[in-house]
Amino acid sequence: MDAQTLPPIIAAMRGQPTPHTPVWVMRQAGRYLPEYRAVRAKTDFLTLTRTAELAAEVTLQPIRRFALDAAILFSDIMTPVEGMGVEIAFNPGPVIAKPIRTAADIAQLRDLVPERDVPFVMESVRQVRAELPKHVGLIGFAGAPFTLFCYLVSGKPSKEFGTARSFVQAEPQLTAQVLDKLADAMIVYLAAQAQAGAQALMIFDSWGGLLGRDAFREIALPPVRKIVAGLKHLGVPIVYFCNNGWTLLDHVATLDIDVAGLDWRGSIKTARQILGPKIAVQGNLDPAALFAAPDVLKSRVAAVIDDAGPAPGHIFNLGHGIWPETDPDQVGRLVDHVHEYSIKRRSA
Ligand code: CP3
Repeated sequence: MDAQTLPPIIAAMRGQPTPHTPVWVMRQAGRYLPEYRAVRAKTDFLTLTRTAELAAEVTLQPIRRFALDAAILFSDIMTPVEGMGVEIAFNPGPVIAKPIRTAADIAQLRDLVPERDVPFVMESVRQVRAELPKHVGLIGFAGAPFTLFCYLVSGKPSKEFGTARSFVQAEPQLTAQVLDKLADAMIVYLAAQAQAGAQALMIFDSWGGLLGRDAFREIALPPVRKIVAGLKHLGVPIVYFCNNGWTLLDHVATLDIDVAGLDWRGSIKTARQILGPKIAVQGNLDPAALFAAPDVLKSRVAAVIDDAGPAPGHIFNLGHGIWPETDPDQVGRLVDHVHEYSIKRRSA
């Protein structure tokens, strides 16, 4: 596809002007959709992630319903970690049968060979790409090493991940080893998704924001930098999202990324000043705004677009994943209003 026919979302990720502000929604394939719940009523989550046809079907569900500019591969950040030999259950968040705590545990983590260990992921990417209209982009993703480490060491979801964060302090060498192993695995995992047809790659650092500035810079950031360096030759835009990362944004700005994801807690205008003109921004409506009356929702959508300003390089999204209780009709209103309002603004 030549530059002129790039899906708008890919153009925006490269900082190019687009006719409207492209939009997608974190966790857009999920439990707020009745059609997703219907699939889940018959299939457990692990089977869903491991069966290419089902994962592709669920990826496409929100695309059929809404005028979204991108699909995101249906999978989980822990899927490649399972591929590395770790036993994981979902309840509903990831639960690790045997958390990683010793050098022997780390040695058991095997190198990821995507076509051998998670072939269904690339098969699902291929199937989705074959079905997607040309103007809709396909985003592949992985978890950032520190976020994966949080689950691997703590063994289950947690608000503070105290077990993982104390491990970082008590065992700096083992920590660095695990993070480096995960970085290498995520490089081959994301590259395999791009080769199968993913047009952008997003790295989710859901728990990076738990770290102080020094720990973030010294521990969480180096493996992300390694991943970005390992993928650059693919020529696919790379998005890095650090949830709760506003106080870390100047460190994020040092990454060679195309897009920084932003949660709802801060102003996009401020983020743009810190990130500079080379990094596009993605965000950042509060997921709670989807519970406002339709007119209020529209004004909140407009406020995000106004905050991002007229410069190219804004991808509209929520500041974090959509909540399962959300009314799907509100997502339709959000998507349509992003398009309508951003077109109106461009011609004003
Ligand atoms: O539509 C999409 O965004 C694609 C699918 C997707 C899932 N997980 C499916 C899923 C993506 C991109 C993820 C990423 C993910 N998984 C992250 C990073 C994003 C973020 O939210 O910060 C994290 C931290 C995880 C780990 C994880 N997996 C948690 C915390 C949970 C439980 C969350 C919940 O909503 O209750 C999961 C399970 C999971 N992953 C579900 C889905 C749709 C719910 C499972 C179900 O159907 O029961």
